[in-house]
Amino acid sequence: MNNFTFKNPTKLIFGKGQISQITDEINKDTKVMVTYGGGSIKKNGIYDQVMAALKGYDVVEFGGIEANPQYSTLMKAVEIGKKEKIDLLLAVGGGSTIDGTKFIATAINYESDPWEFMLDQSILGSITPVKLATVLTLPATGSEMNCGAVISRKEREEKFAFMHPLNYPQFSVLDPQACYSLPKKQIANGVVDTFVHTLEQYLTYPANGMIQDRFAEGVLLTLKEIGADLLENQTSYDLASNFMLSATMGLNGFIAMGVPEDWATHMIGHELTAIHGLDHGVTLAIVGPSLINVMREEKCAKILQYGERVWGITAGGEQERIDATIAATRSFYEKMGIKTHLSDYGIGSENFATIAGRFESRGWNLGENQSITPAKVMEILEGAL
Ligand code: NZQ
Ligand code: ZN
Repeated sequence: MNNFTFKNPTKLIFGKGQISQITDEINKDTKVMVTYGGGSIKKNGIYDQVMAALKGYDVVEFGGIEANPQYSTLMKAVEIGKKEKIDLLLAVGGGSTIDGTKFIATAINYESDPWEFMLDQSILGSITPVKLATVLTLPATGSEMNCGAVISRKEREEKFAFMHPLNYPQFSVLDPQACYSLPKKQIANGVVDTFVHTLEQYLTYPANGMIQDRFAEGVLLTLKEIGADLLENQTSYDLASNFMLSATMGLNGFIAMGVPEDWATHMIGHELTAIHGLDHGVTLAIVGPSLINVMREEKCAKILQYGERVWGITAGGEQERIDATIAATRSFYEKMGIKTHLSDYGIGSENFATIAGRFESRGWNLGENQSITPAKVMEILEGAL
């Protein structure tokens, strides 16, 4: 196991009706800016619950943060946040709203153009963001309990992640009943995103992380067990609560302690969203199986372990077992209703060279061994057609 330092300061407030508890977490003299997305929280009653809890507080609102949150929209919130001297940002939504809010929190206290810190993260050390907290409405990204955020800039076809250790939410409310109103497509995206987060931190090379492997397999097995059921019975509290906790545990640092991490599926997926506008979860279902196939030699030992422990694949030679494991993974995503080939979305190879070229010019070699060169990225994309 590798050396590691672990700290996660986010307080989780989990369960039915817990939104009302936010009053206990926020001092009465706090000026709060509530941020949200395109309006789902106004239809499912979550907005009303939040506002009822914040009665008597000085509250400013900012709605309209889109999926794959856009720099231009967020900058409007930054203006308001600076003018209103906000003490706490409360993000009510999915990963996009939460990520966008992390950007707003950081940009409010940065005097120059915030895109600078997206491109040069060494700047982040000099910025102390405004505090933030969340009410999660879509289990997927883990953003409710991590310090990362992914921000898009459509006009430049850019989508970049940044991490600031002071962007962990102070607290996050996880009421699984929020899942009841999710479109099926978003349930599928959330299950696949969580599954792939787990694989990014598990399907690398053996590092004698026995506990971490079992944690990861616990998340994968849970998603395998509940995934299809959730699509049929999304108002089952038992299913929704296990889905929600899986997503949080999938990317809050627990399963990454002392083990190597990959993240190449995500990096390639972000480019597909930036260029083609595909949902984040969809890009992962397309890139993931092809990446495992191309990287089968380096990842051999862990693919065999994953195949055996998660999919029960024990018969045949190593290559056959790897093929069967990739097929099982692909079939799981397809059963969730997400097609796994670029051609299913009318996309061909027209932008592959552009994507590989971007990695080349950024000097990015990806993967747990930095062995996924731009040439390998091309191979992975070809395999995803
Ligand atoms: O905008 P509203 O109207 O709220 O609707 C949203 C949106 O259309 C809707 N929705 C959310 N909760 C709902 C609901 N509809 C009905 N009922 C509810 N309870 O769902 C749609 C998608 O929401 P979004 O927040 O975009 O989805 P998700 O949570 O999947 O977030 C995706 C973003 O997170 C980034 C992705 O790249 C993408 O930009 N990621 C962030 C990570 C992180 N911070 O650690 C890691 C991830 O790998 C990922 O990259
Ligand atoms: Zn993801």
